[in-house]
Amino acid sequence: MTTDDVCDAYDAYGAYDEAYLEQTRRRVEREQGGIHTYYDRSVVDEEQDPHPLWRARLRRHAAARAQGRFVPWEVRASVDAQGLHPRRRSEISDSVMLMSQGTSRPLEWQGRALFKSVFDFTLIPMLLAELQPAAVLEIGSGNGASALWMADLAELFGFPCRITSLDVEPVAAAHPEVRFVRGDARDLAGALPADALAHGPRLVVEDAHVAVREVLEYVHGLLEPGDYLMVEDSADKAPELAAFAAAHPGAYAVDTRYTDYFGRNATSCVDSVWRRMADSDRTTWSSTGR
Ligand SMILES: C[S@@+](CC[C@H](N)C(=O)[O-])C[C@H]1O[C@@H](n2cnc3c(N)ncnc32)[C@H](O)[C@@H]1O
Repeated sequence: MTTDDVCDAYDAYGAYDEAYLEQTRRRVEREQGGIHTYYDRSVVDEEQDPHPLWRARLRRHAAARAQGRFVPWEVRASVDAQGLHPRRRSEISDSVMLMSQGTSRPLEWQGRALFKSVFDFTLIPMLLAELQPAAVLEIGSGNGASALWMADLAELFGFPCRITSLDVEPVAAAHPEVRFVRGDARDLAGALPADALAHGPRLVVEDAHVAVREVLEYVHGLLEPGDYLMVEDSADKAPELAAFAAAHPGAYAVDTRYTDYFGRNATSCVDSVWRRMADSDRTTWSSTGR
């Protein structure tokens, strides 16, 4: 693909317009005390990054931002992937993703390997701080680091949060707010304590990569509007996500505040940081800024 092809593809998403420029200027002044991020600087001062590919990328961001924060999965999934990584529908290259969990060793929490990308290592605390879930259900504990990490974050942020973390393998870890449960994701009804998601707001993190469609159906029965469902490493789960979304039209929206914070789908959760929507949310979906 030539540079022109890519620019044409980006152009199709709309103009990098005055509104985006103005929005950026206003945010920098009102919320950042006049201090620009690298990105802000490139938006407000074209001379900083005049390369046509970068300008085209900004146009694409402006068009995406104009869609609002919450976007139906079908809309996200149907985007022309030209200029994006084809499988991850992402602006982040394979090499960056491959290095994003660490090159010498994985990230760690409390001395345990934590299998998050550097992007998700930032996004999950942001989501926890905003949602303040009373209950987190993690499917796939690994060696327990991620559950301990989320429990420590909740404590740091100062909200009560009970975490249930399920794995087929035993987990040798302990925290007063974490219940490690040994069981099979293929039988969540049999494996999970009845009160795992008794109180909202709720966050479910699917990170075991088995029986994904069944897992999603099971948790769907427990989620209420405003709750969140994250499906990790979802590039390879697109058929299951598509089937689930088709079975529950309008029930979930992609929260692009998180999926696109560092560029489109700069996360292991490809279009799969989902907010459970209420019917009444539909009218406001597209007008909510991020
Ligand atoms: C990618 S690791 C989880 C990583 C962890 N959440 C983290 O962020 O550090 C996937 C986990 O899923 C577990 N797993 C695999 N099959 C499972 C099943 N059928 N039911 C429950 N857990 C399963 C594995 O034992 C493994 O610990």
